[in-house]
Amino acid sequence: MRCGQNLQGCEVDRGVNFKVAIEHLEPELSKWLLYEYENAAKVLGKSLIFTNIKRPPRTLTKLSTIKRQSALRLFPHETLILDPRAKKTLTPQDLKGDSIAVIGGILGEHPPRGRTRTLLTLKAPKAKARNLGNWQFTIDGAAYVTNLIASGKKLELIPVKCGLVLRANFKPSGVHEVLLPYAYPIVANKPLISNKLVNYLMNAKNPKIAWRNRPLV
Ligand SMILES: C[S@@+](CC[C@H](N)C(=O)[O-])C[C@H]1O[C@@H](n2cnc3c(N)ncnc32)[C@H](O)[C@@H]1O
Repeated sequence: MRCGQNLQGCEVDRGVNFKVAIEHLEPELSKWLLYEYENAAKVLGKSLIFTNIKRPPRTLTKLSTIKRQSALRLFPHETLILDPRAKKTLTPQDLKGDSIAVIGGILGEHPPRGRTRTLLTLKAPKAKARNLGNWQFTIDGAAYVTNLIASGKKLELIPVKCGLVLRANFKPSGVHEVLLPYAYPIVANKPLISNKLVNYLMNAKNPKIAWRNRPLV
């Protein structure tokens, strides 16, 4: 399988007030992070704001609205934090009204270390916190799932699979594989992942992508 989806098709009907903030929390804006941010911007369109960006680079300003301040300060009463360790699961009702869903601009790690809880949830004890199920999505994957839930879809009806393998054949060394131990929403029978990210990680054009189909260790 190869990647590549028309994510502009994600412009589902989810109410005029729907907003998502991606709160940048990594020390650097690496290419990996940037490619996930770009994909999230494709999914969310004008509903997306990037927050906590101290020195906004041109690569980000052209994607969406940028704020230097943290979402926790900008929207102290409307914040709904998406945190894998939250006790309650996100429902369409949670996103009605003025809630602003906050996704951590935090790269995945395996196993997850609960950085969303440390860097966001614990800093805003009055904010609501919600999970998207018992797995770790990428930033753009979390944006896609949140967008669908805002349009009224229940989490359990969104197709998701965990564990991707990227594979490319290099001469003379042979086949190289990269395992991505994260959960990916399935869009048009393919995992939602940035084409640019796949090419960057493999240093090859259009490597093959397969589901791992074995438990992650
Ligand atoms: C790649 S994840 C990083 C998670 C981080 N390693 C942790 O343990 O908290 C990036 C962001 O996507 C969102 N996210 C990913 N999976 C989620 C889940 N199952 N429930 C809620 N939010 C999730 C969170 O906002 C998270 O900060």
